[in-house]
Parts: sequence; structure tokens; C-alpha cells
Amino acid sequence: MFETVEPAPPDKILSLIGLFRDDPRPGKIDLGIGVYRDAQGRTPIMRAVREAERRLYDSEQTKSYLGPGGDPAYCEAVTDVVFGNASPRERICAVQTPGGAGALRILAGLIARVRPDATVWIPDVTWVNHASILADAGLASREYVYYDPVANGVRLDAMLSSLRGAAPGDVVLLHGCCHNPTGASLANADWDEVCELLLARGLVPFVDLAYQGFGDGLDEDAYAVRLFAQRLPEMLLATSNCKNFGIYRERTGCAFVMAGTGTQAANVLGHLLTCARVAYSMPPDHGASIVRIVLGDPALRADWRSELDSMRTRIAGLRVALAAALAARTGSDRYDFLVRHRGMFSLIGVTPAQAERLRGEHGVYVVSDGRINVAGLTEAQIEPFVAALTALR
Ligand SMILES: Cc1ncc(COP(=O)(O)O)c(C=O)c1O
Repeated sequence: MFETVEPAPPDKILSLIGLFRDDPRPGKIDLGIGVYRDAQGRTPIMRAVREAERRLYDSEQTKSYLGPGGDPAYCEAVTDVVFGNASPRERICAVQTPGGAGALRILAGLIARVRPDATVWIPDVTWVNHASILADAGLASREYVYYDPVANGVRLDAMLSSLRGAAPGDVVLLHGCCHNPTGASLANADWDEVCELLLARGLVPFVDLAYQGFGDGLDEDAYAVRLFAQRLPEMLLATSNCKNFGIYRERTGCAFVMAGTGTQAANVLGHLLTCARVAYSMPPDHGASIVRIVLGDPALRADWRSELDSMRTRIAGLRVALAAALAARTGSDRYDFLVRHRGMFSLIGVTPAQAERLRGEHGVYVVSDGRINVAGLTEAQIEPFVAALTALR
């Protein structure tokens, strides 16, 4: 059975984990894997999460099965955080999933069931897993214009005109905030234009909201989702709590569908549950329980929001400090885009060969497409990183 199996192509992000771990150089810098780190370089367990785990340990009565949709109370709590008051609740169904990636895969499976001939349009640079997940579900994908590597921003007009080429009923994958890997995100006025285009052309948004709270704030980062909820008949939405609760390995996310009517939403829910059932039967509970406990307790919820706010502020501060250090070293403003970008990531503009040199010569790990995790820097690493980067030129 396995004699002819060739090695699978390595994942360009995950393969860095092992390389970094095995690198003996003391000054090595990991800007590859996309996790938040604090000033000491640790990925902390948030205070409210710790407390929720304590309460869970003391109060949990059973570990019996919950069902393919997971915990409805978790889904309800996340619906509040994501949609605020903007949700047409009766038209929305939700299932808990193993992380945002699980939500993306379940929703891709749903599209394959209900609209197998739809093309899913993805940004011309996007998270590496998007195309793979869609292909795995048997869906066709095409790129729309998104990123301008010269101006380091979004090419909004070109994006809109490429989406005008989509057929009615096609699906458009959009990063709800904090675009990964570019960091270049849409402003609210841009979202308004995208929304009107989706409405006019009969396109269905498939929003990936993996970093809510890391851009401009918890509510601010939900602008697009809430706008679509008010203006559009349908939406697919994958959310993650792995990042905004710092519970990466607990695999906690939610797949939402907004349908045209409550009856349609109920019908869709049955298919989402089947997609989950055949893939993994039921999602893991621990992370969802943490989120449910935190969001259900006003004091814990407030503490979580404040810690998340300070994480976001720290990333923004690192962006300013990094841009300033690069300006001082290069005598130019060409890295000022770092301050305009949002979320953990930016493309720093190095080729795969240069990314390889950064690793080999300086022990600086960036993804081969030039993505850096700004949130992976400590203040003390800014100067060595800037020195390594500018030594490439
Ligand atoms: C854009 C995007 N979507 C979804 C995910 C999935 O996150 P998780 O499955 O850890 O919740 C990630 C993780 O890196 C991401 O960057």
C-alpha cells in the first residue's frame, strides 16, 4: 500500500517549528509561527482562562458526549461576541468546531454538499491553509486581486474589479480583520464597498475571523461581519477563539451560517452537523468550556477583554518601535507600512532565498514568503532583527 508514497510537501510555516527548536544558537529569533508572545517571549495563559480552568475543574460533573455541534451555550456566547446586536439570530446557525481551521473545513464541506459547482474566490495572497482546505473539500478556488507588494496595502479597486468577474452564487473568502499573511486590512469604508458589490452580484461572503480583538478592538474587528449580517441575505463565517483566548492547542472555534430564513438556517444546521459527524464526530470540549465560563461571568469577561486589549496594544507598540528602528537604520520611511498594518503579521518584503539567509546567517526565522509575526518579537530582539534584515540589502 505505501511502497509508492512520496514524501508530502512540507508546510512552510509548521516546518519552521522543528528547525527553530533544534537551532542551538542562543540569540535565535522566531518570527515564524503565528502565536502571541509577551515581553518575556512567552505565550502566556491568560488570567481569566486560568481562573475558568480552576472553576471547571471544581464544578465539572461529567465528560459524557455532547454531540457533533458541541456546546450550544458556547456557540451562543460566541455569537454575542462576534455579532453584537447586529445578528438576525433566527437566520443564524452555529456549530462548535476544532479551532478556526475546523470551522473552515466544515464550511467548505457544506459548500461542497449544497453548491458543489461554486467557485470560492480567495485573496491573491492568503493563509497557506485556505487553498488546501478548499481543495480537500473538492471545491474549485480562484484568486482575486488583493495585495500590493509595492505599496504594502490593499488594491481595493483591482480587488473590486476582479470580484466583478465572479458568477452569481460564487463564494468570496475574506479575512474579517488582521489579514494573514500581509497585515494589510480593509478600512470600514472599503468594507462598505465590498458589501455593496457582494449584494449587487449575488456573491456569498465566507468570512474567516481568526484574530478578532487583535486589530482595532473586539467590536471594531467585527465591523465586516456585522455589516454583512445587516445588509446581506447569506454568509458563511469561521471564527476562532484559539488566538483571542490564547488557547491555541485547545482547538476552539465556531462555524456559523447565516441563511435567508429561519427554516433555511435549520436545514443548513442539519448538514453542518453531518459534516462534523463524518469528520471527527464531536469537537473537543475543554477550550469551549473555558470560553463559555469566561464570557458568562461579567468579572472574568472584563478581565479577559482588558488582557486582550493589552496584547493588542503591545503589538501596536512593537509595530511602531520596529518601524522606527528600521527608519533609523535605513534613513527611509519604506517600512512605515508596519504601523498601518493590523494584527500579528506583515510581509516584510524578502524573497525565499533571503528568508533562508536570515535563518542560516542570523538565526532569524521568518516564513519563506517573508511573513513575520510581529507579536513574536521581544523589545530586545528589535535591534538584532533590524540589523539582520538590513544586512541583506
Ligand atoms: C487566517 C487564519 N484562519 C484560520 C486559522 C486557524 O486557526 P485555529 O485553527 O488555530 O483556530 C488561522 C491560524 O493560523 C489563520 O491564520
